[in-house]
Amino acid sequence: MSREVNPDIVWHQHAVDQAARAEQKRQQPVLLWFTGLSGAGKSTLAGALERALYSEGFHTYLLDGDNVRHGLCKDLGFSQADRDENLRRVGEVARLMVDAGLVVLSAFISPTREERDRIRALFPAGQFIEVHVSTPLAVCEERDPKGLYQKARQGEIANFTGISAPYEEPLNAELTIDTSRGDLASQVLALLHYLTALG
Ligand code: PPS
Repeated sequence: MSREVNPDIVWHQHAVDQAARAEQKRQQPVLLWFTGLSGAGKSTLAGALERALYSEGFHTYLLDGDNVRHGLCKDLGFSQADRDENLRRVGEVARLMVDAGLVVLSAFISPTREERDRIRALFPAGQFIEVHVSTPLAVCEERDPKGLYQKARQGEIANFTGISAPYEEPLNAELTIDTSRGDLASQVLALLHYLTALG
């Protein structure tokens, strides 16, 4: 599928823009992109951060891999091409949500640097915050909350990230959090401190 825009389609600049929507909401829209292995704690961490932000009055939305694959991306599997398309769609949805003035959190394995960098390039500097949930594979496999690692080891699931499909660690993540060290509350605090420093 081509990623180029048809040259006959012209961008329309509407009167109410991202800056106006952000000012009305009194918040800086950002995208916090959580990446890491299955079972690393992406959804738990993003969910806890969202709860903290929501209770402070921020307008948030959490895009979660498992949930998005129930609707928008339910036609996609886990081949490299399908993962790329999954992340292309999610990146575009996140861009719309940031444009709407929201603080957006996303929790996807997003295993390749290329796709993560492609999404980063959709945003101005500082608006895309990559959070590497760096929990080691051995810990994720030990947790195995959905029994998927066991199935992958037994060959019942193909292309399983970390087992039979690659995961490329970020080289320049804004934040790195290993959920096997420390507790959830202090990990959320570290994220909140980072966001506070951003303003
Ligand atoms: S990706 O690679 O970013 O497109 O994946 P994502 O959309 O985040 O979906 C990951 C969740 O799907 C479940 N699952 C698999 N993960 C990896 N590899 C294979 N083959 C696979 N099959 C199913 C798994 O539960 C992932 O959820 P999390 O929350 O990451 O554990």
